[in-house]
Amino acid sequence: MRDTMTSSRSTVLGVRRRCAVGVLFASVLVAGVYAQAPQRQAAPKGPWMDASLSPDQRAEMVVQQMTLDEKISLLHGRGGFQAEGAISNGGAGVIQGVPRLGLPPIQLADSAVGVRAAAERGRYATLLPSTIALAAAWDLNLAYEYGEVIGRELRDQQYQASLGAGVNLMREPRNGRNFEYAGEDPILAGKTVGQLVKGLQSQKVIGDIKHYALNDQETGRNIGDVKLSTRIMRETDLLAFEIAILESQPGMVMCSYNKVNGDWACENDYLLNQLLKKTWGFKGVVVSDWNATHSTAKAAMAGLDCEQPGGPAERARFGDALKKAVEAGEVPMSRIDDMVQRIVRTAFASGVIDDPPLGRVVDPFKGADSAQRIAEQSSVLLKNANALLPLDAARVKSIAIIGSKADTSVPSGGGSAQVDPPGGGPSRFGGPAVWFPSSPLKAVRAKAPRAKVEYHDGVDIKAAAALAKASEVAIVFVNEPTTEGRDLPSLSLSGTQNELITAVAAANPRSIVVLETGGPAAMPWIDSVGAAIEIWYPGIRGAEALANILFGDVNPSAKLPATFARSDADLPHPVIFGSAQRPTTPPATPPAGAAGAPRQRFQMTPFDVDYTEGLKVGYKWFQAENKQPLFAFGHGLSYTTFAYSALKASIDSVSFTVRNTGKRAGGEIAQVYAGLPATANEPPKRLVGWEKIQLAPGESKTVTVKLEPKFLSIFNEAKDDWELLPGDYRIFVGGASDDTPLSASVRR
Ligand code: BGC
Repeated sequence: MRDTMTSSRSTVLGVRRRCAVGVLFASVLVAGVYAQAPQRQAAPKGPWMDASLSPDQRAEMVVQQMTLDEKISLLHGRGGFQAEGAISNGGAGVIQGVPRLGLPPIQLADSAVGVRAAAERGRYATLLPSTIALAAAWDLNLAYEYGEVIGRELRDQQYQASLGAGVNLMREPRNGRNFEYAGEDPILAGKTVGQLVKGLQSQKVIGDIKHYALNDQETGRNIGDVKLSTRIMRETDLLAFEIAILESQPGMVMCSYNKVNGDWACENDYLLNQLLKKTWGFKGVVVSDWNATHSTAKAAMAGLDCEQPGGPAERARFGDALKKAVEAGEVPMSRIDDMVQRIVRTAFASGVIDDPPLGRVVDPFKGADSAQRIAEQSSVLLKNANALLPLDAARVKSIAIIGSKADTSVPSGGGSAQVDPPGGGPSRFGGPAVWFPSSPLKAVRAKAPRAKVEYHDGVDIKAAAALAKASEVAIVFVNEPTTEGRDLPSLSLSGTQNELITAVAAANPRSIVVLETGGPAAMPWIDSVGAAIEIWYPGIRGAEALANILFGDVNPSAKLPATFARSDADLPHPVIFGSAQRPTTPPATPPAGAAGAPRQRFQMTPFDVDYTEGLKVGYKWFQAENKQPLFAFGHGLSYTTFAYSALKASIDSVSFTVRNTGKRAGGEIAQVYAGLPATANEPPKRLVGWEKIQLAPGESKTVTVKLEPKFLSIFNEAKDDWELLPGDYRIFVGGASDDTPLSASVRR
């Protein structure tokens, strides 16, 4: 079987080489060849196949039949990717099945922004815009659609489970994984990721929320110890998890690499047993991040259910060592049964047993349509002086497209969220940034067929500026690829990109900057450019989506899900914790044992991650400290304008009117913030709700936003519960966290 696979794969790769245009089709063709996975087995039989019983009842019946060895075999993976030979489907890990009882293995695939590692098996996967982009759309229906795309393509590739939906809060704007997360606000992030996972699980695959918790930077992620009080954690990072988990009921939660208040996240009784399982009632599986299991009995008793990737039983912490711990009475059998029960009930509840993923060719066009729609809704127009945008395709005579790779492609995020590009072959963890074939140059040419559209890569800054000067409009593309395993040294764009923009803007004030970044960037040149737009890593149809915005076929409506600071000096921590121990551009460090992982090149000394800003994450810091950001949380322009009026507020609902005061139809994300009573000792205001409204020119709508009591509450440590304090609350409504024309007081 393997030989046939290899030879037909190289045949198709040959076709790809000869026919660059056909890459998508070639990928589809190969996906067809490999649609059948290696783990086909007899249809499960037994009384537990009675679908009228609850997942818990069915799982209980199965667990009763299992021997201790069979139980233990489910609690540790057997390695990821190709390591497993026959039982691996090519993903990052596997939870073994029990063929005797008809339980199939659960194949796990990374799939933060699309299914990872498809090319290795000759398959195709859609690269969606990054999760941070999705958060910028503030659109829960779109988040659901995002999840549906991933869920569908997981199923098509015969995976039973996703590894991630990341909802780590953006405490650290230079975190290399911010592109995989949903920004700095716990309510926006939690709701976005919750809907994403709902959409994913609607496709009958198991969803996962990660990295639980406080893995907010990559620097020293395996040794950092985050120190925060319960109140602060519950109101910030853990609130994002709470919302996402309660709304989506994911099948899995992945515990993270770091320590939290002295204990590793994967053996942290407070995080796993007390909060996740007891308080939030999580019934699914706690799975370790890759090699984040540090002990056997302690981890099992603290609430970890499944070690990944695990490896052979004699080496795994949840393999032979766990069996010994049971025999020695350190881990009771009831706990083992609970661990297994969680895995089996999750498999039943998700649908992967009753309706197993049989494998199908991925539909690249369906995925690309969603990717484009999401990119159009998630690109944030930051600045637009003198209505430079949209460009008039009928009038514009010459356009300079400047910047690295803007003639061919758009960048993607790296690490375990990496999707393989069509025709590009497998990507390497820690390798160079991967670019996807969506050409800004071609997309702009297609929009303005009569204009002279010329390209310069920007390496020779003088020559690029000369092209800008000779053109009516200059569009400069700047990018900052980021990856799991390392953080950015600074908010500053790397290389000579700032100099390039400065020179181009000096040559032509009608300059438009397009940012392709995984998170915030500093923009020392902002006053000299005409327009700026943040498109993040925009996915497989990024350039086409951008062109629709540049020429006004789509009116931008996205808003920043994170504050853009002017410089590192304005951040709560100008230097990343632990970074002094590292070279300025450290190598990406894949988890030990990952395919192709280089040896750890240097040892770091454990350190505390002391988030002294506490509750003041993101915009809350800037507002409390009276610091002016470059662009505030919630900021984003449109080609039309909106006016707010008629605020009516109570403690449980707010209504107001939004009117489109411009000449174009457009969408507005109306935001509601609350300031708590002084006795609460909270930052000045927090987001408590929003509504996305579409308005024709001159049209107005009255919007009602319900306020959830929890979102207005503080976390009372003594009561171990949320508390809505009595007193005066200020309600603020507007189009950005720093632009709230309406306000009112409400008393509780
Ligand atoms: C990452 C996880 C990922 C896992 C498996 C780890 O390095 O932190 O997000 O799911 O690898 O690839």
